[in-house]
Amino acid sequence: MAPVSATIRVQRFNPDTDDKPYYDNFDLTPERDTTVLDALHMIKAEQDGSLTFRRSCRHAICGSCAMNVNGHNILVCKTPLQDVLNKNGRVTIRPLPYLPVIKDLVVDRSSFWEQYLRVKPWLIPPEDIPEKEFRVSPEEVTALNNAETCIMCGACYSACQVIGLTKGYIGPHALLKAFLRVKDPRDAASAERLADLAGSDGVYRCHTIFNCIDACPKDLNPTQAIETLRKLAQKRLAYERSRVQRQRSLQNPIVVD
Ligand code: F3S
Ligand code: FES
Repeated sequence: MAPVSATIRVQRFNPDTDDKPYYDNFDLTPERDTTVLDALHMIKAEQDGSLTFRRSCRHAICGSCAMNVNGHNILVCKTPLQDVLNKNGRVTIRPLPYLPVIKDLVVDRSSFWEQYLRVKPWLIPPEDIPEKEFRVSPEEVTALNNAETCIMCGACYSACQVIGLTKGYIGPHALLKAFLRVKDPRDAASAERLADLAGSDGVYRCHTIFNCIDACPKDLNPTQAIETLRKLAQKRLAYERSRVQRQRSLQNPIVVD
C-alpha cells in the first residue's frame, strides 16, 4: 500500500545565490506507482518550479536521471518511490557525488566524457577489410552484449572512490567500453589499446572497490572487465596476433578430404 504522504529531502544549490548546498523538504502524497522521478516532477509542477534536475527518456535508456538517493547512485526514473522511503516516509536525494554541481541535482559531467574519449571508444578497423564477414565467438558476443548494455549514466563513475580521491583515473565506464573494443573481432587496435590502458591512469589504478558494480543500474560488471583487461595487457601482442590468425582461419578453413 502506498504511504499517505512522503517527505522528499532534496539537496539544493544555486551558484548564483548560494554559498554552499542546503536541504529543502517537500511533502507530497504519492500514488502506488509514483517513481522518484515522478515525485521530483510533482514538486517542480506544484511546489517549486526552480527545482532543477535532468531527465529525458523516463525509461532507463538515456542515463540522464542518475542521482544519489539515500546514499546510493540510481536511475530515479526506474525506481519506485515506495522502495526508497524509510519507515517515516522520508527519502534524501542528492546530485551524483564527486562531480561539480551546476545547480540542485544537475552535475557537470565533462570529466566523465573526457575520460570516455581517452579510450577511443570508436571502432578502428583493419586496413584490409576481409571479403567475408567477421566471425564472433559466443564468449565475444556475451562480452559485447554486456558492454553495449551500458547506457553511460555515470552512476558507476561517481560511485568510485578512486575518481573522488585522485585525479586522472579513466574510470569504470570508459574501461568497460574499452573492453568492448578490445574484445570486438572487427577492431584492429587491441595491442595499442591495451598498451594505453596499462598506463598510469588505466586498469592498474582500480583498487577493486566494487562500488561500480553496486551502482550499475543495468547489473553490469565493470570490475570483471577491468580484471580481464589487466590480464590481456600483459600478453597484448600475442593476444592481437591470435585474433588476426583466428579470423584468417575462420575465413579460409582448411578442407580435409
Ligand atoms: Fe572503482 Fe570499480 Fe575499481 S569502484 S576502484 S572502478 S572496482
Ligand atoms: Fe532516461 Fe532515466 S530519464 S534513464
